[in-house]
Parts: sequence; structure tokens; C-alpha cells
Amino acid sequence: MNSKNKVYIFDTTLRDGEQVPGCQLNTVEKIQLAKALEGLGVDVIEAGFPVSSPGDFNSVREISKAVTWPTICALTRAVEKDIDVAADALKYAKRKRIHTGIGTSDYHIRYKFNSNEEEILERAVHAVKYAKKYVEDVEFYAEDAGRTDNAYLARVVEAVIKAGATVVNIPDTTGYCLPGEYGAKIQYLFDHVDGIENAIISTHCHNDLGMATANTMAGILHGARQVEVTINGVGERAGNTALEEIVMILKAHKELQLETGINTTKIHQVSRDVSSLMNMPVQPNKAIVGRNAFAHSSGIHQDGVLKNTLTYEIIDPKDIGLDNNSIVLTARSGHAALKHRLEVLGIKLTPEKLDQVYSEFLKLADKKKEINDDDILVLAGADRAESHHIKLEYLQATSGVGIHPIASIGLDIAGEKFEAAATGNGPVDAAINALRQIIRRDMVIKDFTIQNITRGSNDACKVHMQVEHEGRGYYGFATNTDIVTASVECFLDCVNKFVRK
Ligand code: KIV
Ligand code: ZN
Repeated sequence: MNSKNKVYIFDTTLRDGEQVPGCQLNTVEKIQLAKALEGLGVDVIEAGFPVSSPGDFNSVREISKAVTWPTICALTRAVEKDIDVAADALKYAKRKRIHTGIGTSDYHIRYKFNSNEEEILERAVHAVKYAKKYVEDVEFYAEDAGRTDNAYLARVVEAVIKAGATVVNIPDTTGYCLPGEYGAKIQYLFDHVDGIENAIISTHCHNDLGMATANTMAGILHGARQVEVTINGVGERAGNTALEEIVMILKAHKELQLETGINTTKIHQVSRDVSSLMNMPVQPNKAIVGRNAFAHSSGIHQDGVLKNTLTYEIIDPKDIGLDNNSIVLTARSGHAALKHRLEVLGIKLTPEKLDQVYSEFLKLADKKKEINDDDILVLAGADRAESHHIKLEYLQATSGVGIHPIASIGLDIAGEKFEAAATGNGPVDAAINALRQIIRRDMVIKDFTIQNITRGSNDACKVHMQVEHEGRGYYGFATNTDIVTASVECFLDCVNKFVRK
């Protein structure tokens, strides 16, 4: 691949993407996603903003140790302390980058910094030179570049490249630009910045007006060769440009002769990982990764696709890792069908583990008509309760109109049996109150999300919870067709993480 034809994929799911309230990940989950991103083939992983919290610092450090091929990037403001801390967090990275920058629009210069253009330009140059003392690869961002005057932006870009910036990021921070305007901005820089060939120009588009992908494409078409993106387009407010959209646009439009290093067959799986770890369901009609993205429902389309997929499909679902010929799994499916499906989903199990998952599968298939990929993935990882110190023995909850919700619960704690009953403002509250009577610890539920897996009243639900105990957050996950049982199992999953300490 000629370097002019390569578009570098800079993934910021773990930094800009993770700024969504309620979607924060712990370090273990971030490492899991970083490794999935490495498998996907991203060029750069923006792992966090180390000065912002000890958690972010730790995540950048641990991801640096865990990941081999992609460059690990840490965000900073144009502040020496931030840069010192970022360099420290990146200590173990095999390839490292510091991403420093400052706001360059009038709004930022006057209202955020109470400053002027010359002072901001000096601070930008100083930050790049300072970061260069630590790392060779320094990326500069001109925050709110989308609303920055082009002539001033060109002066800043020229100065930071002279100071040693290897990549210059032109963020449309507020998602305000029109595609033509953003493309023209990138073109203006190519036409007016001396030395621009010494750096890679990067796009970073937000989706406030639904134009992030269009703007990113406009940037690419005018010469940008790095794109800053997130899986599923997650990110603050309306999110960032979705990685899968840009990658598949470039793959579908071969005439552009632009390529990425992404193994597209992993897109579907990584999209699911992000959705489930961040508790963010993917909208069904989301381009590329929504569950309806390849579902032809009208008779005319079905007829056309059956005759030749090219009639209505511009992307082969297999290209993103979806096996379209999936056999529908039901209670009548055998071992072999389940094994095949698991392998298609990238999961290889030992024969013993397969037996165990198969018997769980049969139990679920008895309750649900069709078992889908989400159910199977959950089943394959659903043995976590077995290793629990505290296990749920039984649960009975009563609720309804005109009665006070009440629950009784039985727990097995390392072989010993405990029972309790309690009331609450609903069956889940009653069950958790009963559980608290047995486990007398200080536990505050900080986050609690219930998601259905597909649709329908017979669906299994996924529950994610964060419980705070002695100042630390513990994350739990459980799934069940019974919403109360799933909630209690999820609470227990959290409790089991600190109870043996
Ligand atoms: O949107 C933005 O401007 C950013 C920068 C910090 C790169 O996320
Ligand atoms: Zn951003």
C-alpha cells in the first residue's frame, strides 16, 4: 500500500468515546477493548487523558503494557504538568504518542482562555516542543478548529509542524461544519501551510448535526490521512464519527483507491463488545452494525437478494463478520449446530465446556423460541456465577397492582445457607433489600442498566450494575429471562468481587 493511499485509523473509543455519562469502563474492561481494537487492526489507540484522574492514568499505563502493535496515545492540554503525566503513563508503550493541543476558535481564545491569538499560538508551539522532549510522535489538536478562522488556523498548523508535530488534528469539536465547509478547510491548509507535507492531517468530527461521517469523508477527500473515530460512533452528546462507517465506505468505494489496515471481519464482534461493556445499545438501523443493517424485509428486496445479493446489498455481511447463512437455533438444534455457531462467532470451547453451554442453551431455548447470537455469546460466558463465593439458591418475588412488593431469598455462602425476606417499592428493590439483610455491608448502587437482547416479552435481558463499596466501584453483569433474577444475580456479581477481600 502506497502511504498516500493509506488512511490511518485513530480509535478514541477509550477516550472521547468513554466520556459518555454512565458508560465509564474500569481498567480491566479497557484492556479487554484495547486488545479487541488491536485485533481489529487500528493504527492508534487513544487510551485516555492521564492527568484527569488516577483511573485514566492507570488505564493508559496498563493498556501500554498489554498492547503490542498499535501506537498508544495519551491526551493532554497544552500544559506542562499534563504532558509530564502523559509521558509517565506511556512509559511502557512500545509505540507512543502524546496528543496535546489548545482551543483556537475565537470562542475558546476569548471566553475560555481570556487570551489573544498570539499568546495561544505561543502556547501551542511550546506544548509541542515540550512534548517532543519525551516522545518523537507528537500530535497537536486545534480544538474547535471547525469554527476557527482558516487563516489563523493555517498559521497555527504551520507553527506546530515547524515545532515538530508529526500529526495535526483539525477537530470539528461542536459538530457544526457542513461537509463542503470542512473539506474546504482541509484543502485551505494544504494550499496555505508551508511544510504541511511533513505531517499527517487528521480529522476529528462530532455528530451533533448528524454530519460526522460526511465531514470525515470530506476531510479524507481533501487530503486528510488520519481519521479519529469510535466504535459504534459512541461519544459525548451525539457522539463521534463511527469507525465502521468510514472503514466500510473506503472498502465499498474502491475507485477512491484508499485503504485502511482494518480486518473488517472483526467489526461486528468489536461493535458488540463495546455495546455490552459500555451499556450502550446500538440503534437497530445504525449503518453497518445495527441489527437491521442487512435485514431485508420487503418482499421485493428479499426476492432480489435471493436472486443475486448485488441487487440490494452494497456490502457483503460476511465482510463485517456476519455470517448471513446463520442457522436459526432452537430447542431442536444439536451440539454440532451450537458448536458451528460458536465458531462463527469466534469462540472455541473445550468439549466439557461445550456440554455445559449446550445444557444451558437447552434451558434457554425452552423459554425462548429462537436463540440468537447475543444469547449464545452470553451463554458462552455465563458461567461466572459458578465460581461465586456467594450463590443465589432461590428467589421468590411477588408484585402487582394492589399488593405490596415482597421478596424472599436464599443464599449459599461458601456452603452455608442463609435466608431473608423484605419488602420494597418493586420486586427488584424488595429482593435486593432481602439480600442486604444477609450481606450486611455498605453497598451503594451507582449504576443499574437493564437491556433486552432482541425484542419480545420472552426475551432474555442483560443487566449491568456498578456498586460502590468502601469508596471503590465494582462492576457486575448477569443475564436471565427473569428480570428480577437477572438484577439480583448482577448485584451478587458485584458483591462477589469484594466480599472475599
Ligand atoms: O473534540 C475535540 O476537540 C477533542 C479534542 C480534545 C481532540 O476531543
Ligand atoms: Zn472530540
